Parts: sequence; structure tokens; C-alpha cells
Amino acid sequence: PQITWRCASGKSFSIDVAAGQSLMEAARDHDVDGIYGDCGGNLACATCHVVVPPEWVPVTGQPDAMEDDMLDIVETGRTETSRLSCQILATEEMEGMVLDVPGA
Ligand code: FES
Repeated sequence: PQITWRCASGKSFSIDVAAGQSLMEAARDHDVDGIYGDCGGNLACATCHVVVPPEWVPVTGQPDAMEDDMLDIVETGRTETSRLSCQILATEEMEGMVLDVPGA
């Protein structure tokens, strides 16, 4: 699916992501501003924070308990629909999704 990251820097990145790839990896591969993925996707760094528009939450799903705990330490302001993008795997249903990447 094609997914767009709208960054606090003002830049947007539209990327064709392979189904099954984590959104953190896709973003890191394309140097999306504000997505670092320092821990490699192991739920240990919280540097892959994105905010999912509410209408896309049924598609992305909700964070599990471990992710929920890690979301409390994001440095860029947790919101109601914050996620750690290493925990979201792309599916075809995500075609056209736009994610926000909050700044520090
Ligand atoms: Fe470290 Fe997502 S990449 S928590």
C-alpha cells in the first residue's frame, strides 16, 4: 500500500510499503523525519512514534499492553491514537493512509 508520513518538520513522505513490512522499517529505509527506530523494532526505544488519524484506527488496530507502556515514554507527546510504528505491519487495507509524525 502507499502510505504517507506527514512530519513535524513540514515534509511529507509517500512510500510504497510492502505488505507485511513494519511501518517503522519502511519509514527508516526512506529517512522519514522523526522516525529513528533505534531499537530495531523491539519495543525498547519509543523513537518510532506516529499518530494515527482516528478513522484509520480500525485498520491499524490498538496497541497491546507492552506497547501501551512504552507509549508513555515517547518524547513527542502521546495522544489518544499514538502508536509505535514498529508494531504496525502494512496491509493492503492501509492504501492511502496518512500518519502524523509529531516533533519533539
Ligand atoms: Fe524501538 Fe519501535 S523501533 S520501539
